[in-house]
Amino acid sequence: MIVTLTVNGELRSASVPPETTLLVMLREHLHLTGAKTGCDVGDCGACTVIVDGLAVNACLMLAAQADGRTVTTIEGLATREGLHPLQKVFEETGALQCGFCGPGVIMTSKALLDHTPEPTPQEIRTALTGNLCRCTGYVKMIEGVQEAAAMMRSPQS
Ligand code: FES
Repeated sequence: MIVTLTVNGELRSASVPPETTLLVMLREHLHLTGAKTGCDVGDCGACTVIVDGLAVNACLMLAAQADGRTVTTIEGLATREGLHPLQKVFEETGALQCGFCGPGVIMTSKALLDHTPEPTPQEIRTALTGNLCRCTGYVKMIEGVQEAAAMMRSPQS
């Protein structure tokens, strides 16, 4: 079947078997490998992307379910002006350790900040519940999301 998505602002199509997940379509058909394959069963969050404004586990969504929808992956965050504040802060503060969970953590955080520009530490913790980090680096991540949120609220500072 042909599936067409708007991915990172571009209309992209691929011919995929009906059982193809969104994660496989992104990684293997559209060559967007930022979303990672971790558990492949919805437990780790490494595959998180944003679909129509909501963070989803791309391993649990069929490509067909995403047909016609708007998908943002980690590749879509940086602009000509530079990295997204979340990427910048995470890079500068060492909020990520091995980095495998990073794209998922950043996409979940972006979805949170899009809806909640000034989240409390508890709201960040709750949002990141589905993103597992085996390096156990959550404290710096939570601080990093708060710092990025502050940058996004006052971009000049
Ligand atoms: Fe999708 Fe782990 S790979 S949740």
